[in-house]
Amino acid sequence: MPTLSSSTHCRSYCSSSNYGHHPTALSPKRFVPSKVFLQLDRKSWSNVVCMQDGALSAIVAPIESKSPSKKMTEEVLSVAPPEECTEAAGFDVNKDDSTVSITVVGASGDLAKKKIFPALFALFYEGCLPEHFTIFGYARSKMTDAELRNMVSRTLTCRIDQRENCSEKMDQFLNRCFYHSGQYDSQDNFAELDKKLKEHEGGRVSNRLFYLSIPPNIFVDAVKCASLSSSSTNGWTRVIVEKPFGRDSESSAALTKSLKQYLGEDQIFRIDHYLGKELVENLSVLRFSNLIFEPLWNRQYIRSVQLIFSEDFGTEGRGGYFDNYGIIRDIMQNHLLQILALFAMETPVSLDAEDIRNEKVKVLRSMRPIQLDDVVIGQYKSHTRGGVLYPGYTDDKTVPQNSLTPTFAAATLFIDNARWDGVPFLMKAGKALHNKRAEIRVQFRHVPGNLYNRSFGTDLDQATNELVIRVQPDEAIYLKINNKVPGLGMRLDRSNLNLLYAARYSKEIPDAYERLLLDAIEGERRLFIRSDELDAAWSLFTPVLKELEEKKIIPEYYPYGSRGPVGAHYLAARYKVRWGDLGLEQ
Ligand SMILES: NC(=O)c1ccc[n+]([C@@H]2O[C@H](COP(=O)([O-])OP(=O)(O)OC[C@H]3O[C@@H](n4cnc5c(N)ncnc54)[C@H](OP(=O)(O)O)[C@@H]3O)[C@@H](O)[C@H]2O)c1
Repeated sequence: MPTLSSSTHCRSYCSSSNYGHHPTALSPKRFVPSKVFLQLDRKSWSNVVCMQDGALSAIVAPIESKSPSKKMTEEVLSVAPPEECTEAAGFDVNKDDSTVSITVVGASGDLAKKKIFPALFALFYEGCLPEHFTIFGYARSKMTDAELRNMVSRTLTCRIDQRENCSEKMDQFLNRCFYHSGQYDSQDNFAELDKKLKEHEGGRVSNRLFYLSIPPNIFVDAVKCASLSSSSTNGWTRVIVEKPFGRDSESSAALTKSLKQYLGEDQIFRIDHYLGKELVENLSVLRFSNLIFEPLWNRQYIRSVQLIFSEDFGTEGRGGYFDNYGIIRDIMQNHLLQILALFAMETPVSLDAEDIRNEKVKVLRSMRPIQLDDVVIGQYKSHTRGGVLYPGYTDDKTVPQNSLTPTFAAATLFIDNARWDGVPFLMKAGKALHNKRAEIRVQFRHVPGNLYNRSFGTDLDQATNELVIRVQPDEAIYLKINNKVPGLGMRLDRSNLNLLYAARYSKEIPDAYERLLLDAIEGERRLFIRSDELDAAWSLFTPVLKELEEKKIIPEYYPYGSRGPVGAHYLAARYKVRWGDLGLEQ
């Protein structure tokens, strides 16, 4: 079945055999329609847009492969791998004279094992790494290359849609992984690493990426030593820095200042992995490439925007780090605020990183200072359910008994600009709640003079449209609409126009770390946080965080596995809003 497509999942380095395997994930550069070509899709067609909700279901039946309309439902518009990707990467894959060396600093740690090595393998598996690449693990732990490979191999998995040659690919990948043991503050140890890197680079142009997967108190030492002793001398050197970027305005500014002693801003890639998530990446596509959304994207039509994050587990023995930060710093000040800025920004001049980041900064700088009154904090307590005792936050041995650190927070924020004046942006984030999800909910206003008001009774909120962008799990975009129940009467109901990714796209969605690592290798900064964005984000949250801590505000306690503190409901009610995730139908 020919479909309109020009798809490639990865970018500059894909071998031609990989073209056409992945339909989405357009980088801005890939929007340039350099080539659009037809692709044969091998999978069967699935439901794309459907009405659902029990008895009211009107599910579009799978379309037969010979149906002409099927072409439309499975149409995937993307762009051939453009040459400019290779330019962005700073070298030409067709030439044999350049290499990329990726050093995972803190390779023995949790994040490296869980996310970074698997993401690098996925990129290799998809043919997205350059021909000449080397991966080094660096940490203090003593390990041989074989031991590192053994450790890494335990966390690698293959794409469900491309299982063939998996173990062969794993062996090839592991053979490109090496380990160097060293201290984070030793220039000598980094000089030894430099020597090993040079041996592997074999005289080619060397491009080096360092991923700092270490606790923040050793960021500066590691950057200093890596920069002074193992920077590339003839290619680029880039450093990915993991959060947290400080714990308030002052410490964040101090960290930036220290890093900039050794690196230029264009070498620093501050990672917020939420920006690498497929549905967050899709926000701009949804809004700026569909005529129906952008005209409604303002105070005139939108009543509230909700950004919701929940986890169904607690700190589970890893509360030491968390207790020093709390949920506001851990989730709201970075992940949720970044999504808010992307959601609310004005149309950028182009899809270039600087244009997008300029617009995001404007949103952050237009935000009204957060009032303590507009914040609710909570902490989970132990709870027994089904004979099982779920521990409270302070039962975690790594957490001080008297800790007031919030494991839940809800806040109302406002953007004082012409587009969003008066629209409450509600944020909510919590651990040990009843479910695990991250989503954006856009609640629209009531239809003025709605002819059908009587059909909805007194609860007009039942009749408003809501657009839900579910970032995780089960990625989906759905729009709640009012619909007539089929039959002779006039009964209305709410139904969903539903785009469930698993039903629409047969390919596995890449992990956020894959996209971000590839971007860093390509020098694409759009999804990384610039220092002025970071300053603006901290300026917004620092005063209220200080107030909470100075006044020792006691969190509202909520049972493990519950829906969170009741105070969050009152907070929303103050702005005549209900949390969309807690309604009867979600
Ligand atoms: N884990 C996650 O899911 C996650 C998510 C988002 C962000 N992060 C951030 O990513 C970074 C790495 O996270 P992680 O969970 O992998 O950290 P980790 O396991 O605690 O630490 C990574 C490695 O750093 C070294 N290290 C730990 N504590 C140290 C200390 N006090 N002094 C010197 N070296 C020390 C250890 O290696 P050696 O002893 O072998 O040197 C350890 O294996 C952190 O900044 C974290 O905040 C983590």
